[in-house]
Amino acid sequence: MDNRHGAREQWSGSLGFILAAAGSAIGLGNIWKFPYVSGMHGGGAFVIVYLLCVAAIGIPVMLCEIAIGRHTQRNPVGAFGALAPSGSLLAHLIGFCMVLAGLFLLVFQSWGWAFLCLLPGALVFRFGWRLVGGMGVLAGFVILSFYSVVGGWTFGYVLEMLRSLLSGGVGGTHATLHFAGAETSLARFSSLAANASWSLVNHAVFMALCIGIVMVGVRRGIERISRILMPLLLFLLLILIVRGLSLPGSGEGVRFFLTPDFGRLSTESVLIAMGLAFFSLSLGMGAMITYGSYVGRQQNLFRSTLGVVGLDVLLALLAGLAIFPAVFATGAEPGEGAGLVFILLPTVFMQIPGGALWGLLFFLLLLVAAWTSGISLLEVVTAYFIDERGWSRRRATLVFGGFIFALGSLSALSPDAGLTGWSRLATLRDLLVFCFGAAPGSFLDLADNLASNWLLPLGGLLISLFVGWVWGVKPALDEIRHGSDNFGDVHLVSLLAGLRDDDSHNSPVHVLTLAAVWGIFIRFISPLAIMLAFLHTIGWLRTS
Ligand code: TRP
Repeated sequence: MDNRHGAREQWSGSLGFILAAAGSAIGLGNIWKFPYVSGMHGGGAFVIVYLLCVAAIGIPVMLCEIAIGRHTQRNPVGAFGALAPSGSLLAHLIGFCMVLAGLFLLVFQSWGWAFLCLLPGALVFRFGWRLVGGMGVLAGFVILSFYSVVGGWTFGYVLEMLRSLLSGGVGGTHATLHFAGAETSLARFSSLAANASWSLVNHAVFMALCIGIVMVGVRRGIERISRILMPLLLFLLLILIVRGLSLPGSGEGVRFFLTPDFGRLSTESVLIAMGLAFFSLSLGMGAMITYGSYVGRQQNLFRSTLGVVGLDVLLALLAGLAIFPAVFATGAEPGEGAGLVFILLPTVFMQIPGGALWGLLFFLLLLVAAWTSGISLLEVVTAYFIDERGWSRRRATLVFGGFIFALGSLSALSPDAGLTGWSRLATLRDLLVFCFGAAPGSFLDLADNLASNWLLPLGGLLISLFVGWVWGVKPALDEIRHGSDNFGDVHLVSLLAGLRDDDSHNSPVHVLTLAAVWGIFIRFISPLAIMLAFLHTIGWLRTS
């Protein structure tokens, strides 16, 4: 199925691709999730583990995704279809195991789980590896549905901060009324999130922002907006860091964030670090396959991958530096968990001079980060309908943006005044309890859980297995070699020793090259590590 709308669009160059992919990677995961999770898991110690996960799993898997995309020039479903042999032994083996697990679950009368194993297990025999791509498109759909709700809250908070600013600056009535202390701030957030029209309107605004950009196209839409927003993001963050660090008492926050406390690190923290690395780098669902499919053959994939990963990590660290000093300087407690951003931070900002302005800049930052990530999620779904179904870009974005909005509305409607709950969706909850024996705290949690704990790790696992064992490391490497000056074939020891250009250190007998290390990682180490993390999240592997 070739592209029916002329030549496939391409990024204008390496920088365009790096900025767009970094825009996808840098999002709520970096600025909202990373600081509070690392705060809960031992600060600097967690940061070290996170960096190891990024290096050992994030980089190899991202390289896989981008290589698949550039080689096939397709969306995830088409990409797997183009590369996979029709009767893949490994696919059949996986399908067989899933059917077996499904039958096993039937015996235990877990109807919902049995169904979730049997259906995809049977589909594997029909669609083979294309199913992994399909899972990716589905994940894009599900993630964007709740991501857009949180993105909508961010937009709503930008307006809240603007109102505070307009109602008389720092001590303006709006601010003192709603964000003066922890309790009022919590009450404000709960009442806003439980307010159906507030949530829905903001959710709609966020979706409209994403649809508007994706509709315009890859280079003129996605790349152009990333070129504007990414520097803006860095700029806003730097202002906030300078402001935070200049507050008296901020050193405590830096210490909290960066001092390693290995005592608070558990096996679980390691697994959480891995899951977070996946989410934060936009891996596991073909977002990078899709973006990779717009990369030109002359571009260096190794270098671009390092650039994207480097920017993502840098922004996560900077976000921590922007948040914790301000939190500690105002004497607040950092152990706020997920509520850190919407509940704690507004009060923190209101206590420092010029608060509403800093709050405004912070939520703008968050909005910008979420926006470029939302765009990448929508692009995956769009690319599928353009490539495989022959739809026009305009129709694909409008129709599926609409569907995603509808699904997300359930997440937007789900929080009640207690911030969790199903009061408006009781029937749905009963159905879930009937099928699965339990229901998560809210519909938003359900969608987040489904995507982050199931679809993404499974997708990442299958993608690295696919490249390592089905497509093959050699063909994948041949793709990566285009435009890479044989970077992967440099002897690793010579490279580390700074002797890359020395002839006698570049013998034709390559042993420990970067490429070889990559191959070993995607064939063995990454799949194994992801598998362990996955078994742990679903509770089949207990540590402790
Ligand atoms: N990486 C983004 C973040 O950190 C979220 C995101 C965008 C994503 N696209 C994705 C996550 C694709 C997984 C897969 O917030």
